[in-house]
Amino acid sequence: MSAAGSLFRWRMGVPVATPIGLREWKVAAAACWAGKEAQCAFEDEMRDFFGVPWVRSTISGRAALYLALVAMRRNTRRNEVVIPAFVCPSVGRAVVKAGLRPVLCDVGPTGSGLDPDDLRRKLSERTLAVVTAHLFGFPVDVQDSIRLAHSAGAMVIEDAAQAFGATIHGRRAGASADVGIFSFGMSKVLWSFAGGAVCSNNAALSARLDDVLGEAQTPGWRRECQSVAKGALLSLLIRSHHLGPVAAVWNGSLRGRHDCDDFPCELCASSTAALGRHMIRRFDEITSVRRGNAGRYAAALADLDGVTLPKVDARCEPVYLRFPVIVDDVETKRRIVHLLRRAGINVSEMYTRESYRALQTFAHADGPCPIAEHLMERMLHLPTHCYVTDSEIALAIHAFRGILPTRAPIRAAGAISGPAEVCASSVK
Ligand SMILES: Cc1ncc(COP(=O)(O)O)c(C=O)c1O
Repeated sequence: MSAAGSLFRWRMGVPVATPIGLREWKVAAAACWAGKEAQCAFEDEMRDFFGVPWVRSTISGRAALYLALVAMRRNTRRNEVVIPAFVCPSVGRAVVKAGLRPVLCDVGPTGSGLDPDDLRRKLSERTLAVVTAHLFGFPVDVQDSIRLAHSAGAMVIEDAAQAFGATIHGRRAGASADVGIFSFGMSKVLWSFAGGAVCSNNAALSARLDDVLGEAQTPGWRRECQSVAKGALLSLLIRSHHLGPVAAVWNGSLRGRHDCDDFPCELCASSTAALGRHMIRRFDEITSVRRGNAGRYAAALADLDGVTLPKVDARCEPVYLRFPVIVDDVETKRRIVHLLRRAGINVSEMYTRESYRALQTFAHADGPCPIAEHLMERMLHLPTHCYVTDSEIALAIHAFRGILPTRAPIRAAGAISGPAEVCASSVK
């Protein structure tokens, strides 16, 4: 839809939104001149939150990835970085900006993590690092990828841009590998307009990262003020539910960046740091709303045939940034997306053939990635954020149930165990 077209779609929602109040924007505005103090306080808060010894804040998630790769690249001839084939093009862009060669690897069945067989094929004596991503707020076990990468002499970067605060085996996503990266961009778990972070458990690497970050600039107060003004305006539009203009500017002038474009590699703005620190304290409140909404989708769609819903086991605590659904039939998925968008529900599709082609402008697949290609045709994401209304959730459920048949109950060993029970209990 064109920007002009979406201006007229008054009720067109945004796929992801975090509520930020006037009080919080005042905190951000007051911090425009705070300098390093605000960043240090934010980093201290994150160190506690993640339970890692070293964290630094950056201007974006992609800047965090770039800076980590620049630190890793020192004193080695290794020049390849294995990245997921199912991820945003900005990941490939950051690798190329660091002067390295991205190699695409197939992903796990839910889109997160890497396919271990393909990872084995892609690792070589040229591999400097492996990037594995936790998508849509759902963390995956990265221990296999770490073991495989380390045995090939490569380091591991956990991309937790979409899973800030999610836990697996009691550890936060991003806190288990050599490096974790996070984003506070507009469509992330904790929005603070822009911003990112990099953490590390690797003492030698964090010392190198300190050197690299020592050369980075911070945005000047003028840009800080612009960001706060833009962010406050955008959050007001989202809050007022007059979302048509937001849809028009979401990928336009307010967002101001494209996943394939070059990007600045600066430290976090102090206003962003002050806001981010505030948002971390609201993490539980924000996540519980998303969890509640995801639980409603899970319970209501669990008995449908032809869809796969996220399964959450007891060791894992997702943050439900979005609710991903895999629809077996491609045509049916298109119908559902069309129907929901017509109803003003901003269902999203991450990632598509188009974004894959964009990713391939930076990275070569070096062989097929069938799981990623399967998902890019079939996966859609329902909004879980705090501004999705009860009637929008009911509408989305109604659309699915109007199109897809229900599954016959499974009878096993004399007991009736319906898939509805299995899936509904799986979203905590
Ligand atoms: C998985 C993933 N990695 C990295 C990034 C980059 O984060 P940022 O937009 O803050 O640069 C994003 C953002 O879209 C992302 O979704």
